Amino acid sequence: MPTLSTLFHHPPSPVEELHTQLLKGRGVRLLVKRDDLLRTGPGLSLCGNKWRKLQYNLQAARDAGQDTLLTFGGAYSNHIAAVAAAGQAFSFNTIGIIRGERPEGLNPTLRFAEACGMQLQYFSRSEFREKEKREFQERLQQQFGDFYLLPEGGANTLAIEGCLDIVAEVEQQLDNFPTHWCCSVGTGGTLAGIITGVQERAQVLGFPALKGDFVEGMVRELVSGFRVSGLRLEGSEGGGKHNESWAIIPDFHFGGYAKWTPELVGFMNNFYREHHIPLDPVYTGKLFYGLFQLIEQGYFPGESIILAVHTGGLQGIEGFNERFGGLLVSGGH
Ligand SMILES: Cc1ncc(COP(=O)(O)O)c(C=O)c1O
Repeated sequence: MPTLSTLFHHPPSPVEELHTQLLKGRGVRLLVKRDDLLRTGPGLSLCGNKWRKLQYNLQAARDAGQDTLLTFGGAYSNHIAAVAAAGQAFSFNTIGIIRGERPEGLNPTLRFAEACGMQLQYFSRSEFREKEKREFQERLQQQFGDFYLLPEGGANTLAIEGCLDIVAEVEQQLDNFPTHWCCSVGTGGTLAGIITGVQERAQVLGFPALKGDFVEGMVRELVSGFRVSGLRLEGSEGGGKHNESWAIIPDFHFGGYAKWTPELVGFMNNFYREHHIPLDPVYTGKLFYGLFQLIEQGYFPGESIILAVHTGGLQGIEGFNERFGGLLVSGGH
């Protein structure tokens, strides 16, 4: 059984370069930080940005003597699956508060969470929206006793701290600092960590999996909140410096979380056949699709070194294939 130190002492996830005619033609390089290969615990769930976001939180829970983790998510949530896997791997009790009614047949994500020992509790969508409120959390406390609370998607200060490590790791791995850093955006925690780590040395691009114009404000708030809270930046520049060299690319969410098109699936399958890298249908599939569109449109100047962070999410492939008839060829990887 792995111990918590597995999360802190590991070889860096590999950085792989992709080679295609398009990249050659545009004179740019595309590197993939394979955080999807950072895996531990049962199944494919505790990998990618979930590893980074949970790492310091699990340590904080252990340091505080908490043996129960409680968190929130939708029925297909990578975060729910990751917390369940972390609980099993590192001996925490886990409670998952799930948005919506209990489905008649559990999907692979919820089946997995239950198999890891997570206690699932379902709340209507309207109740679930109240989850940040004190009364709601008191109700949970009465029901479950003491717990370490992880927000939906896991994006708290310690999660951002974990995502900072991605930048430090890449810096050690590469001779040349990439000119562009790209990652998928849900809650914005991963992007906030990368923006903070890159400082103003490169352009950072976030590709939201969600529809809506709130994403930029959400990321801005996370970045400035993290600077104020200090943590690893304490004593550096007083946390006041803003990095404006980042942008949200809002054009590739395909309508939102569970939305997709045959074109997206076709792209993901071709990508897997060509590069042997599995992508998930909610986050990384859309990231790479969007990235290739931008490259084709000439968005990146010649000689750009683009680094895309593969944030994992591979547990979602099974649920997608079960729902939509096995469309993704990368199932099981
Ligand atoms: C695979 C994957 N990639 C990217 C993201 C987006 O990360 P964040 O919520 O930190 O923006 C998520 C969701 O957390 C995810 O599961």
